[in-house]
Amino acid sequence: MRRAPVLELEAVSKEYPGSPPVVALDRVDLAIHAGELVGIVGPSGSGKSTLLHVMGTLDRPTAGAVRLQGRDVTVCSDAELSRLRGRTIGFVFQQFFLLEGNTALDNVATGLLYRDRDDGEEHGPGHPGTAPGPGLARGPVPGRRRRRGPSLALAERRVRAAEALETVGLGHRLGHRPGELSGGERQRVAIARALVGRPALLLADEPTGNLDSVAGNRILDLLLELNAAGATIAVITHDREVADRLGRRVFLRDGRIEHDRPAGPDGPRHGPGNGDQAALSGRSHDERSGHHAGPDDERAGHDAGVAPWRAA
Ligand SMILES: Nc1ncnc2c1ncn2[C@@H]1O[C@H](COP(=O)(O)OP(=O)(O)OP(=O)(O)O)[C@@H](O)[C@H]1O
Ligand SMILES: [Mg+2]
Repeated sequence: MRRAPVLELEAVSKEYPGSPPVVALDRVDLAIHAGELVGIVGPSGSGKSTLLHVMGTLDRPTAGAVRLQGRDVTVCSDAELSRLRGRTIGFVFQQFFLLEGNTALDNVATGLLYRDRDDGEEHGPGHPGTAPGPGLARGPVPGRRRRRGPSLALAERRVRAAEALETVGLGHRLGHRPGELSGGERQRVAIARALVGRPALLLADEPTGNLDSVAGNRILDLLLELNAAGATIAVITHDREVADRLGRRVFLRDGRIEHDRPAGPDGPRHGPGNGDQAALSGRSHDERSGHHAGPDDERAGHDAGVAPWRAA
C-alpha cells in the first residue's frame, strides 16, 4: 500500500479580504508523495505563490485541510506550526534571501537554527552500496548518543553546512559572501540552506526566476539530481519550459487545478543544462520524442555530486 502523502491539501480555499475579496485558491485538492518532483505551473495571478504559502504552512487557508506528514496543520498553534515547519519543510525563493554580511557557510548554517539536536541521529547507516562521504545523507555518528535539546551548536551547524554546500557543488566557496557569488551560486547557497536540515519537502517558488537560462537550467539540473537522490520537491514556476523538465505537473488557473499530469514513465527529464533546444522549444515533455535521460545517464551532467537523500 502506498504511504501517506508528505503533504495533502483537501478542498483548500484561500480568500484575501477586500471589496470584492480575492479568491486566490478555490477548493484545491493536491497530494504530494515522498520522492515526487512536482511542477506547479500557471499564469501570473493564478495563485501559485498563495498555494506555496499554504503548502508551506506560512499562511493558513480560509477553508479546507492541510496535512503535513499526516498531521492536520490547521489545528496547530502558531508555535507548533513553526516547529513542524522548521523540521519538515525547506524553502527556496526567487530572491534567494541570503544574509549579505554572512559567508555562504554561515548562510547555510542558519538553516539549522530551528532544528533539534537529535535530528539526523536517528537514521541507520547510508543506503546499501553507497559510499559514505560528504553529503546530506550522513548516518549517525558512531558512539554518539541521540540527544534532545535546543539548537545545534554553531560548530556542528557549520560542519553540516559545509557538507550541504559540497552537495550543491559549492564546496570551494564556503567563505564567499553573497555579493561575491554569481546569481546561480547564490541560489545554490539558498538550496543548500533549505536542504541542510534534510526536510521531508522542499518548496521552491520560481527558483530560476532571477537567473539567465544557462544558470537557471543548472539549478534545475541540481533539483532533478536532488530528486533522483530521494528528495521530495515542489517547484512553482510560471515558465512552461522549466515545468517541462519536471515530472508531474499541476496546472493552476484562477485558483483552481486545471490539470494534474503525472510524470511519464521516464520520470523527470534529466538533460543537459544548456543548449538543449528540445528542452527550450516550448513543446511539452509528452510531445517530445527525443531521449529522456534517467538518473544514470551520462548526459545528466552536473558538478554537484549529489549524495543519496534521506529526509530527517
Ligand atoms: N495579500 C494579498 N491580498 C490580496 N490579494 C492578494 C494577496 N496576495 C495575492 N493576492 C491576489 O491573489 C491572486 C493570486 O496571487 P499569487 O501571488 O498567488 O499569484 P501567482 O500565481 O504567484 O502570480 P505570479 O506568477 O505573478 O507570481 C492574485 O490575483 C493576487 O492579486
Ligand atoms: Mg508568485
